Amino acid sequence: MTDMHVAVIMDGNRRWARNKSLPVSLGHKKGADRLLELLNVAVEQRIKALTVYAWSRDNFQRSHEEQSMIFDLMMLVSSRFIQQAIRLDICVKHIGDLALLPHKVSHKLQEIEEKTKSHQGLKLFIAAAYSSRYSITSAVKTIAERVQSQQLCVSDISESLLDMMLRSQHTDAPNLLIRTSGECRLSDFLLWEIAYTEIYFCQKKWPDFQAKDFKDALLWYQGRQRRFGC
Ligand code: FPP
Repeated sequence: MTDMHVAVIMDGNRRWARNKSLPVSLGHKKGADRLLELLNVAVEQRIKALTVYAWSRDNFQRSHEEQSMIFDLMMLVSSRFIQQAIRLDICVKHIGDLALLPHKVSHKLQEIEEKTKSHQGLKLFIAAAYSSRYSITSAVKTIAERVQSQQLCVSDISESLLDMMLRSQHTDAPNLLIRTSGECRLSDFLLWEIAYTEIYFCQKKWPDFQAKDFKDALLWYQGRQRRFGC
């Protein structure tokens, strides 16, 4: 498993809560607890990188009430998060647009990055205020500006250039993408990067996605024959 990059769309927190007639906030809280718990499994399985979708740019369309609940929750779990990252030697990084997040959250994410930057174990990428289409568009704009200022020629534009620009804050393409809750869509997550990623859709909602379910997904991946078009 050592070299694996696993990406996860942690979906179904609200439905989990509503199905149990519980407040939505509890669904998100259970979701955050689940993430902290599964970090142990990721480390135990010696996964190299884990990218989790915590908040998309489109999620800003949710009610202000839900947004503040999620951001307060992120603040609330942050100290447990840091402790866990220290205990497990996890290096945490953010992908997405920090400027869109409330200042307290972006500040906390930067603090976590700073505190864990020398860690040598699992690389954990937290996608927050993230949009894949926005990232691709930004990279294209940068390329256009470089062509306009003659730092680049049109013939320099290649897949590997875009790949390099999109990976500047991130890492190699995921081997495996897991989406929980039975939804079979990608929701603007790592669209460029997952060109040849194996995709595992799981019926369980994120708060119910346990260590065994994570290991089942890894086992499923091991049985896949990756052909990259060959
Ligand atoms: C998807 O379920 C979940 C989210 C949009 C938020 C994910 C956040 C966490 C797991 C907790 C905090 C994260 C960190 C990094 C501490 P949903 O709300 O879309 O549920 P639904 O699909 O049932 O509507």
